[in-house]
Amino acid sequence: MTKVQVKNWNDFCPQQLFLYGTYKEDGTPNFGLFCWFSYIWTTEDEYGGDGLGVMACIGGEKLTKDLIRKNGVFSANLVTEELLPLADYYGGTEGRAHDDKMKFVPTVEKGVVLNVPTIAESPVSMELKVMQEINLASGSDVFLCKIVGETMREDLTNKDVPFIERFKSVKQVLAGGEERYVSNDGRDLGAWGEPMKNL
Ligand SMILES: Cc1cc2nc3c(=O)[nH]c(=O)nc-3n(C[C@H](O)[C@H](O)[C@H](O)COP(=O)(O)O)c2cc1C
Repeated sequence: MTKVQVKNWNDFCPQQLFLYGTYKEDGTPNFGLFCWFSYIWTTEDEYGGDGLGVMACIGGEKLTKDLIRKNGVFSANLVTEELLPLADYYGGTEGRAHDDKMKFVPTVEKGVVLNVPTIAESPVSMELKVMQEINLASGSDVFLCKIVGETMREDLTNKDVPFIERFKSVKQVLAGGEERYVSNDGRDLGAWGEPMKNL
């Protein structure tokens, strides 16, 4: 197998997409689309002891970052094929520049532990409390967070059904390379900016 040197990027090692939910000052929700997201292990601390956490990198200045800094909490809602048109719209529409960004909304619920907006149609919603913000460069910031609450579609918890069947039923969307969305079973779901045309 010959390997060639390429641009440093993650085209064939993509991340899953999440919609981060925050409450604005007037109590209405804002959602943005994010993929620079992975997991960390958090240990005994003021946030409730050992447990899974996440690292979320937010580039540039944007409404989601403003609100995460202000509130210290946000939700991460897994994007599915059903949610993709809305997610693509949230990823291509700047909240700071568009007061009417939330003219398209999913079914919004309040977190079970934190005061964060979650999406009923998303099969997995994590409620995240920021433990630390790391400033890497101008506009590039990583938020280390603890998962302090999580809700999941009830049928996904039924262990009588093999894990792989439940996994496939979720229909997660990956941020594949070359600015395309990819299904978890390898189908092309369109270029960034395309799925929102179905809204
Ligand atoms: C597929 C996709 C993935 C994205 N992932 C990220 C990300 O991980 N970090 C980031 O800062 N912006 C990311 N964005 C851009 C944000 O979604 C965009 O800045 C959006 O305007 C954020 O919402 P807001 O302006 O309401 O905060 C992504 C956009 C797309 C289309």
